[in-house]
Amino acid sequence: MGANVDLSVRIGNGTLANPVGVASGTFGYGGEYEGLVDFSDIGAIYTKAVTLEPRGGNAPPRLVETPSGILNSIGLANVGVEKFISDKLPYLRTLPCAVVVNVAGASEDEYRRVVERLESGCLDSVDTNGSGIFGYEVNVSCPNVHHGGLAFGTDPAQVERLTSSLRELTKRPLIIKLTPNVTDIAVVAKAAEAGGADAVSLINTLVGMVIDVKTRKPVLGAKTGGLSGPAVRPVGVALTCKARRAVSIPIIGMGGISCADDALQYILAGASAVQIGTANFVNPKTAGLVSSGIREYCIGNGISSLKEICGVAVD
Ligand code: FUM
Repeated sequence: MGANVDLSVRIGNGTLANPVGVASGTFGYGGEYEGLVDFSDIGAIYTKAVTLEPRGGNAPPRLVETPSGILNSIGLANVGVEKFISDKLPYLRTLPCAVVVNVAGASEDEYRRVVERLESGCLDSVDTNGSGIFGYEVNVSCPNVHHGGLAFGTDPAQVERLTSSLRELTKRPLIIKLTPNVTDIAVVAKAAEAGGADAVSLINTLVGMVIDVKTRKPVLGAKTGGLSGPAVRPVGVALTCKARRAVSIPIIGMGGISCADDALQYILAGASAVQIGTANFVNPKTAGLVSSGIREYCIGNGISSLKEICGVAVD
């Protein structure tokens, strides 16, 4: 049942067999979810951000719950590219799903050096069948660091420059992850497209703050954090629609997706694929459930390819 529904998504020179991935920062480097999920249910793992050097991250507390969401200020804590290659990538390469490495940096040079190291150090060929690295998601949208991240992603000229600089280094799918914390996401999406991106992913989190009225201080160690979860879904859907009208490269939608209907909203707004983020903390199997729910929706509505409904609510 359902074998005739084409859910595949073309991103640059690669094809994802399943449009539902798990978002960077919510799924570690895959191994954290061993035994909890069937990895063949997942379209792609977008790894925790990888920087040139290891990063300890921001001062705790780093997480606080909010109505229908969470606020995080992790600060790009990660093992660094060398440990990623030696300790994390061998495991990731055994998984039956695509692996997209989320790359972050405090400068254009740092982003370049991470991609260069991955390209030269360990990747043999473009591999879209699930046994190697599918591509890169370039994080120009983290709200929790002072350099790089959001500072890059709010400047269209910088986004275009960085994208074209990374484009020179790889033929693998290059996805630019955009921030909603801008006046006009369409301008930034166009800059990514002009720089040679194969896709844009959106939205990263919205800057927020929670104050403890007893201590009269912000709850998070870094004071502000990034808001995610169901509370941000209408923002993500609206910005997907805006990006859809601005660019012709694929859009990977995320923000508050916890069931197939949520994902379908993004697809109807113009996303070709989606990522599950905060919902992984509630049910690690969410991506698989969303994927099978999308398939059932297609079967129930006589849709033979997901492409048939991409953007139809707004085109
Ligand atoms: O703080 C963090 O590590 C968050 C990263 C992101 O939102 O991209």
